[in-house]
Amino acid sequence: MFLAKTISEVRAFHQQHGGTWGLVPTMGALHEGHLSLVRRARAENEQVAVSIFVNPTQFAAGGDFDKYPRPLERDLELLKLLGVNLVFAPANAEIYPPNFQTYVTVEGITLPLEGAMRPGHFRGVATVVTKLFNIFQSDRAYFGQKDAQQVAVIKQLVQDLNIPVEIVVGETVREADGLAMSSRNAYLSVEERNAASVLYRALCAARDAFLRGERDGDRLRAVMRETLQQEPRANVEYVSAADPITLQELEEIQDGVLLSLAVRFGTTRLIDNFLL
Ligand code: PAJ
Repeated sequence: MFLAKTISEVRAFHQQHGGTWGLVPTMGALHEGHLSLVRRARAENEQVAVSIFVNPTQFAAGGDFDKYPRPLERDLELLKLLGVNLVFAPANAEIYPPNFQTYVTVEGITLPLEGAMRPGHFRGVATVVTKLFNIFQSDRAYFGQKDAQQVAVIKQLVQDLNIPVEIVVGETVREADGLAMSSRNAYLSVEERNAASVLYRALCAARDAFLRGERDGDRLRAVMRETLQQEPRANVEYVSAADPITLQELEEIQDGVLLSLAVRFGTTRLIDNFLL
């Protein structure tokens, strides 16, 4: 496994190692959610690259950029065990040199949900992911359904900017009580961690209503909200039953629906979703 710190090292390694390439972009602090994407990339490509970069442009001022966990040595050990060929762990100035002034803005689908709660977040994600696609020129890139709107934004930018990469989406990996794995779960106190399984229970309650034939968007949103309200530590930011492609809230569900929610426990913000 080669550890590249610079873009030119990535380019040189790519030129020397032919075959199909799969890329897994991450911010590190790897857990089973990330590793499931790496395993899938390993199975589907001759060469696997993982990027580890805590991207400053997708964090709000005063957000958790500084305290975001960065256990690089441990991450490298895990990736070595999975047979990754190339890890790219650049310094900030390698990605954003002093004269940097070009950003990628995806419009419509970045406006609701996470986009409404985290202004500028998807501009940072779209910009860094476009740069990673240009740096790696991989055949495939792997993203988690855990971040459903991020997947929609990346698929949109790949289509709009004619980027020749296949986007592969991996299932959300969960803890035993249903909590979606996230690097931010480490911020939770023991009490908050126990309470946090309410996100999963809220999604299950709405899914069960849907499976019983409920097709009214307001009812599905109410089912999620009522479940979340049973947990006093949960501060609800939004609950949503939206069109999976446009991300607009649905009144009546006809085909599919993306159930999603964002909930704060203290200062920690958690998101989750089910695609039905
Ligand atoms: P990060 O939060 O590190 O996540 C890296 C990838 O792992 C993302 O595609 C995310 O959706 C996926 N992932 C996270 N938790 C998961 C889980 N429980 N199950 C399945 N997949 C999971 O998302 C980012 O980094 C950044 O925004 C990035 C795309 C790297 C751009 O900076």
